[in-house]
Amino acid sequence: MILTEMMMKVTPIKNGTVIDHISAGQALNVLKILGIYHTTDATISVLMNVTSRNLGKKDIVKVEMRELEVGEVNKIALIAPGATINIIRDYEVAEKYAVDMPDLIVGVMRCPNHNCISNTDEPIKSQFLVKNKNPVVLRCLYCEQTITENIADYLI
Ligand SMILES: Nc1ncnc2c1ncn2[C@@H]1O[C@H](COP(=O)(O)OP(=O)(O)OP(=O)(O)O)[C@@H](O)[C@H]1O
Ligand SMILES: [Mg+2]
Ligand SMILES: [Zn+2]
Repeated sequence: MILTEMMMKVTPIKNGTVIDHISAGQALNVLKILGIYHTTDATISVLMNVTSRNLGKKDIVKVEMRELEVGEVNKIALIAPGATINIIRDYEVAEKYAVDMPDLIVGVMRCPNHNCISNTDEPIKSQFLVKNKNPVVLRCLYCEQTITENIADYLI
């Protein structure tokens, strides 16, 4: 591969957000969280299974013209707890921070237990205690059911 090809895998973005160090396999779930189902005018780059020194393999999502909301970052933390958010301004990384999640996740995850009161017609929001952030371990406040894998499947 020639050098320019190696360096220019993806067009640089002028302003926007790079979500880096996404757990391999979660890039499409990140797009879902961001509500990106079809292309808009903005440039969106999705890299999957990129070789990473620390993670072995990782995914990266680059979204032009977009900064993320707290709720979006909290959801990304659930499916990719090691992700880094880079805010790009004028082609440069202007801000960088690690994703984080609150200690209590309210109204964001569906309880896997069908008999849980949060899955009935009662006007009750789901609530999960965060027992561990990376790897993610959640416990339902109502029925004690835990979620440790396939987190994206339970996002509301
Ligand atoms: N203008 C840009 N357009 C598209 N992607 C960018 C742009 N600037 C930086 N990036 C990407 O943003 C991420 C963070 O960039 P940075 O230069 O901080 O890399 P880094 O030093 O490897 O960061 P880290 O220490 O977090 O791994 C990288 O994936 C990089 O490719
Ligand atoms: Mg890096
Ligand atoms: Zn429950």
